Amino acid sequence: MLKYKPVIYRDFYKKILTRKNPEEMIKKASEAGLQKTLSAVDLVILGIGAIIGSGIFAVVGIAAAGGNGSAGAGPALVISMLIATVACIFSALCYSEFATMIPVAGGAYTYAFATLGEFAAWMVGWVLMLEYVVGYIAVACAWSNHFMQFVKGFENYLPAWVVNPPVWLIGDYKSVADTLVSTGHSAASIPTLCGIPFCINLPAIAIVAVITAILIKGTKDSTKMTTLMVIIKLSVIALFVICGAFYVKPENWTPFAPNGLSGIFMGAFVIFFAYIGFDALATTAEECKNPQKDLPVGIIGSLFATTIVYISVALVLTGMYCTSGPIDAGFLKAPMAFVMELAGMDGAAGLISIGSLAGLTSVLIVLQLASTRILYAMSRDNFLPKVLQKLHPVFKTPHILTVLVGVVCIVGTITLDLNKAAQLCNFGTFTSFIIICVAVLILRKTDPERPRPFRVPCSPLFPILGIVCCGGLMLCSLKTLKTSASLFLIWLTIGVIIYMMYGYVKNRNAEICYSEREIRITKEDDKECVTK
Ligand code: ALA
Repeated sequence: MLKYKPVIYRDFYKKILTRKNPEEMIKKASEAGLQKTLSAVDLVILGIGAIIGSGIFAVVGIAAAGGNGSAGAGPALVISMLIATVACIFSALCYSEFATMIPVAGGAYTYAFATLGEFAAWMVGWVLMLEYVVGYIAVACAWSNHFMQFVKGFENYLPAWVVNPPVWLIGDYKSVADTLVSTGHSAASIPTLCGIPFCINLPAIAIVAVITAILIKGTKDSTKMTTLMVIIKLSVIALFVICGAFYVKPENWTPFAPNGLSGIFMGAFVIFFAYIGFDALATTAEECKNPQKDLPVGIIGSLFATTIVYISVALVLTGMYCTSGPIDAGFLKAPMAFVMELAGMDGAAGLISIGSLAGLTSVLIVLQLASTRILYAMSRDNFLPKVLQKLHPVFKTPHILTVLVGVVCIVGTITLDLNKAAQLCNFGTFTSFIIICVAVLILRKTDPERPRPFRVPCSPLFPILGIVCCGGLMLCSLKTLKTSASLFLIWLTIGVIIYMMYGYVKNRNAEICYSEREIRITKEDDKECVTK
């Protein structure tokens, strides 16, 4: 038995609960040199850019009509959407309180450091990677699918090898194998590399590479690009709602909830993916011109605008197509374009395909931006190597981190199956929302005097309702998504191991260096006094 514990493991529990002083965080952030370019309007645009994407262009079909083992909500999709909105609103209010109180990069990760301590902060950062990086992988795969669908519209003008490339060049192994089997082919026809089946998602890799380059060039440029994408996707959604409204048949709205409450709650869980992204705004706090005023407007404004858009789409979609009868596969893949085609509006359906590509592109931009900013904050706190903090000499962006996230996503698009990635993303998001609500309650108790430019109304009721709503939806999903739940646990375990082997050790070494420096400075001061 060891007689003495190694120095770094002394006071282990106290150390993992070490909290950061918000003042120090704000001071460190002001020295970091990230450019402050984002206004309230930029934030609302970034928010809509992050939120509206594959959720409303693709996942909404499954939420309404069911599929992949889940019951659909039917026309009661609007209720599912309201449930998902309510769950998000409580968390959005909590995010706003934190973002205005501690306006530094890192979002939920930073807030956990100020309230729950070092270990919890690392774990929140680690879980947020599920939301942003794994979510990014899911959206990149969806982008690839939509892009190939879009290219097929030009089959009379483009060479056949562009329109119909070998399937193993446009997907991950599982999707490719599923496609081959469903079309009567064998998965054995996939080429092998060193005996291992080899698939590569070229369109996904291309879009990740383009977005990585845009983000290295600068946040302001990426905001301009996002603005363009937001305008395009909102225009096509408006086109859908206005044109589609003329084809709504009220009889399609009955029965209103074909699968009862279970369909409504499952629909809420599925459509929750469509709301992910507003929290990413909090991670850009250091790049806001006036975070105290603008961040709550950005977070709550974008969520509010998105909800109106989603409810309008849900009403028209379920009014145009009967979701309680037999469902066409086209409705599950791209429901808006599908119902427009069904109504004989092929031109509008084509425009919706373009809009969905724009929608997915802007989601990708914000998710990659958010993940690099969280990793940047984690590196500043000794959880990751310091080299990752380096800013580009000209563009002043964390270019090494941006490339690293790009490379990880490229590997992910080759290895991860889209559905699993999206489910894991949901798990990460629910967890981070719950932690933020808990953290607001804790900080109100431990630091009640701290100035709060924005306060969650009706506290503690609203944060508690946030915990109950997110926790409830998460528990509902655990019953059906056993594989993803297991993967989530594995992810958490890997996080604990990395913390113990790297982050914990680095932070203790940093403390030792810091106290040695303090002693040296004190000794030098003493010497000076004696000489005088
Ligand atoms: N909310 C994002 C989307 O729907 C993740 O694509």
